[in-house]
Amino acid sequence: MNSESQSTSKLVPQHVAIIMDGNGRWAKKKGKIRTFGHRAGVKGVRASVSFSLKNNIKVLTLFAFSSENWNRPQEEVGVLMELFKMVLSSEVKKLHKNNVKLRVIGDTSRFDKKLVAQIQDAEALTENNDGLILNIAANYGGRWDILNATKALAEQVKEGSLECEQIDEAMLNRYTCCADLPELDLLIRTGGETRISNFLLWQVAYAELYFTDTYWPDFNEDAFQLAIDNFADRQRRYGMTGEQVS
Ligand code: FPP
Repeated sequence: MNSESQSTSKLVPQHVAIIMDGNGRWAKKKGKIRTFGHRAGVKGVRASVSFSLKNNIKVLTLFAFSSENWNRPQEEVGVLMELFKMVLSSEVKKLHKNNVKLRVIGDTSRFDKKLVAQIQDAEALTENNDGLILNIAANYGGRWDILNATKALAEQVKEGSLECEQIDEAMLNRYTCCADLPELDLLIRTGGETRISNFLLWQVAYAELYFTDTYWPDFNEDAFQLAIDNFADRQRRYGMTGEQVS
């Protein structure tokens, strides 16, 4: 649900998702190889987590690796996998100390055993934390998410425990990756492209969209604040008229 801040009347988002784009172009501009940009992108991850903690954002969902990213050159995919492992081993204790609950959404079955174990350990360690929820989308696709939910419901219809007519949006939502989280309020995409790229397709229905030309490695706390300020001035109408909601 969208929410009003306790201390001001400005809109503040509870759930922010980010498509972290522009690492490759950032590196190219500096005459470096693409993977240099991914390594620099870790700085953007730290800045966005730190900003979310300071600003009482409840959920931060980061698109770290899409189901389509496997099609990138093998070497780049390898560096991204190593980076996830590196970030998990270097940051998890700090996240835990800051009461952050880490979760990974997506099909992790294709990751190597070491990465899967690191993910499970990090999720187990931070499971009972009740501060920021840091949701990392890895081997995630929005269509995959909707498809999984649909299959789960179809199974129940096949078994005879559910009537087709009983299925509604709330029921399908319960089988998606973000079922237990506040609704997505704000989707940010860095790097200048203005598309959704198969991210959170179901959840984006009433989210506000914010696109910035800033490449991900340069996305710092000031850049995040600009997105939040922009969101604060939006009027969320959910299909109603401006008069009805004001
Ligand atoms: C998109 O930039 C970025 C990615 C596919 C990977 C993002 C990964 C990180 C920031 C590193 C680690 C993150 C976590 C959460 C462990 P791009 O390569 O598409 O850039 P381009 O559009 O300029 O080519």
